[in-house]
Amino acid sequence: MTAIQHDSPIVAERPALVLLLLLLSASNWATADELAAATVSSTSSEAAARGYRYLTTKPYQPVDFTAAEFDALWKVWPPELKVAAEKATPAERRRLAFSRYGLVPNPDSPDGAPLGVVDTPMGWAMNCLSCHGGKVAGRVIPGLANSHYAFQTLIQDVANAELASGQPLSPRQANTALIPLGRSNGTTNAQTASVLLSSLRDRELHLLETPRKVPFENYDLDAPPFWNTKKKSHLYIDGFVPKTARVIMQFVLVPANSAETIKSWESDFQDVLAWIESVEAPKYPYAIDRDLAERGRPIFNRACAECHGTYGPSGSYPEKRVDIAEIGTDRLRLDGMPVEHRRFYQESWFGEFGKLEVVEQPTGYVAPPLDGVWASAPYFHNGSVPTLWHVLHEAKRPTVWLRSEDGYDHERVGLEVTEFDKLPPEVRRADDKRRYFNTRLRGKSAAGHSFPEQLNEGEKRAVLEYLKSL
Ligand code: HEC
Ligand code: HEC
Repeated sequence: MTAIQHDSPIVAERPALVLLLLLLSASNWATADELAAATVSSTSSEAAARGYRYLTTKPYQPVDFTAAEFDALWKVWPPELKVAAEKATPAERRRLAFSRYGLVPNPDSPDGAPLGVVDTPMGWAMNCLSCHGGKVAGRVIPGLANSHYAFQTLIQDVANAELASGQPLSPRQANTALIPLGRSNGTTNAQTASVLLSSLRDRELHLLETPRKVPFENYDLDAPPFWNTKKKSHLYIDGFVPKTARVIMQFVLVPANSAETIKSWESDFQDVLAWIESVEAPKYPYAIDRDLAERGRPIFNRACAECHGTYGPSGSYPEKRVDIAEIGTDRLRLDGMPVEHRRFYQESWFGEFGKLEVVEQPTGYVAPPLDGVWASAPYFHNGSVPTLWHVLHEAKRPTVWLRSEDGYDHERVGLEVTEFDKLPPEVRRADDKRRYFNTRLRGKSAAGHSFPEQLNEGEKRAVLEYLKSL
């Protein structure tokens, strides 16, 4: 199956969307270049350090809200949360807000703005690390996907606060009606945002008067951990674009940024890419049964390495795209990204005007490297499977699951979850529903990847132990 299907394409109310997005350019905008002074250097570790500094200090998007506005959001929380916040000290209240929105502290300034937010004199500007800086078992790791991020809840609370104070809705808030930012906390509708932002521009990235019409679907994704990006020649779960600095700049396409400004940031993003490629997989911090893991290695090499590669000093990674029919995981991401968007990548500044070979009709997903896989739960591109044990036991995967904040499941290796056979009926509020991962929703299936089923229980146990050691 190679054709891209548009089973229920939704064509956005383009003029309205564009108007709203354009209004973004009117918001507060700090002069970005003042905020990060770069020292020119050619070594990759210095480039990586600069790249990380850019991500944490230089805003590439307009300010989203001020610290004071963020700290007052509790006033629009649901009653029971509001009661707790009212009694709390300001510091505790911030912790409650981080927890509600899935934001993680910045290890360099634990009492300041969260990782993924650049604190500017004008206010807080969100950036790449809001999705690409996460925590596992309570430990913050920049480059790990933020599997807690409640982007939709954050933006909706900001909208409610604006409405409550009698302000008109800011464009970002109004847009969430058109593009839901995520229906399950920890996953985001990131590619669709990028499809729509790209549709506002011509090949040279100038804003169009009339945006291109592109069909789109909404599908939430779990970002891959950056420590595996160095092994790849092509990015994203379907591997559709070659890895370059330009390609990773799609989130700076907000209308506030002119084509010239965006292009002037290319060298920054070469450094950002150097940082991404410098991120190392964290080691499993708990006990490993080394004998059992060593018994798992040959089983893994027989049953899994063909797609996921081999590990250790002479390891190799095949970067293999597997046909969707063979994998059987949720296919909405594959079918839902329009061919028009892939082609725009190819033909525009992103694809160096046709020089880069973009894959217009990928037939499946690329098996990711499994380094540090103990830390990157939940699993699969849509984040539908909470532990490695569940990856290995297809029939036992929960229909609905709810994670704890910082719990880690040492037995099953991954998120500590409560399992349900359906969404509990008392969960009615939209923000509450997003705390539960519901595999019954469109684009959220946890089915497929039956490859481990050829193994018996003892072999699965050994492979699970081996996976901890990668
Ligand atoms: C709203 C959340 C979000 C934001 C913001 C975001 N990303 Fe991502 N990113 C994702 C998701 C989700 C994926 C997986 C997409 C896919 O596979 O189709 C991804 C994939 C990537 C990848 C591919 C990694 C790989 O190994 O294939 C890179 C590199 C990347 N992002 C860099 C960035 C940079 C740089 C920025 C900031 C300019 C950024 N991202 C902003 C969510 C986000
Ligand atoms: C025929 C190719 C193939 C084989 C064989 C295979 N896998 Fe996979 N695997 C994939 C693909 C493709 C994905 C991505 C699926 C997705 O995200 O929808 C994947 C995803 C995974 C993931 C989730 C990774 C993540 O970061 O989300 C794990 C864990 C995994 N495989 C483990 C295994 C193990 C263990 C075996 C052997 C018992 C195995 N796989 C055999 C192709 C394969």
